[in-house]
Amino acid sequence: MSTRHILLTGAGSGIGYGMAEHLGRQGHFIWLSDITQERADQAAAQLHKQGIQAQALCLDVGDQSQIDALVERTAEHPVDVLINNAGLQHVSKLEEFPPERFSYLLNIMLTGPAMLTRAFLPGMRDRGYGRIINVGSIHSLVASPFKSAYVAAKHGLMGFTKVLALETADTDITINTLCPSYVKTPLVEQQIAAQAQEHGIPEQQVISEIMLKPMPKGEFIDLAAMAEYAAFLMGAGGRHVTGQALVLDGGWTAR
Ligand SMILES: NC(=O)c1ccc[n+]([C@@H]2O[C@H](COP(=O)([O-])OP(=O)(O)OC[C@H]3O[C@@H](n4cnc5c(N)ncnc54)[C@H](O)[C@@H]3O)[C@@H](O)[C@H]2O)c1
Repeated sequence: MSTRHILLTGAGSGIGYGMAEHLGRQGHFIWLSDITQERADQAAAQLHKQGIQAQALCLDVGDQSQIDALVERTAEHPVDVLINNAGLQHVSKLEEFPPERFSYLLNIMLTGPAMLTRAFLPGMRDRGYGRIINVGSIHSLVASPFKSAYVAAKHGLMGFTKVLALETADTDITINTLCPSYVKTPLVEQQIAAQAQEHGIPEQQVISEIMLKPMPKGEFIDLAAMAEYAAFLMGAGGRHVTGQALVLDGGWTAR
């Protein structure tokens, strides 16, 4: 496979960092971005130690002025592959959901990916290649209680994916959404604690009775599987796959 320039958002931690590491080891150049410069710098330093070519970028995906400046900031290694990964969770009944928090989640996990795609599409078109890979969730397809903003944003991401697949069908650009069930990252660790409080049960019970129970395979999804799916989409085999939800759910939605 040709080596590509990949920009990952929210890659200082969890899935984004895991994908950056895996794809970097395959020889791709990584623009490693996160909401603070410090987070991005620390993660990029970890990649450098492994001989991976990476550059840290401070990028808040909710800030349109930062997005507007990105094409110029990344001109040295123009972005071939955009991985929209940044995200966060808020667990609460709708009646108690702070309105500004609801809007914030939608802004980071739906508007942000759309505006980043908007920014990079012209360059991808000019160069005749582009891959947009959204990190959605099993919650792009099904729902869980107490996660109304998250589920709405992740379902919205699928609608966005389908529209953009149609708008880019005339060139070698694809857009897809990876839909994992639970991956053990700091985001999920926080949810385990929050759900334990919401349901009034011990954390171990949240893992066994809530998180892993819907997955017949009964285990967390691993980071390498996420990265391998992205690598497939970037390569020749992925050329005709567009507008899809690519599901890594241990059988959750087979029931
Ligand atoms: N962990 C899971 O089980 C799971 C499952 C399905 C989907 N996802 C999705 O995967 C993505 C990554 O989640 P994770 O589990 O690695 O979480 P994480 O908390 O480990 O990492 C999220 C990263 O996003 C960054 N971020 C948050 N707000 C940002 C902003 N405004 N701009 C830029 N960066 C920002 C954080 O700084 C952090 O580095 C999210 O979109 C999440 O919804 C996670």
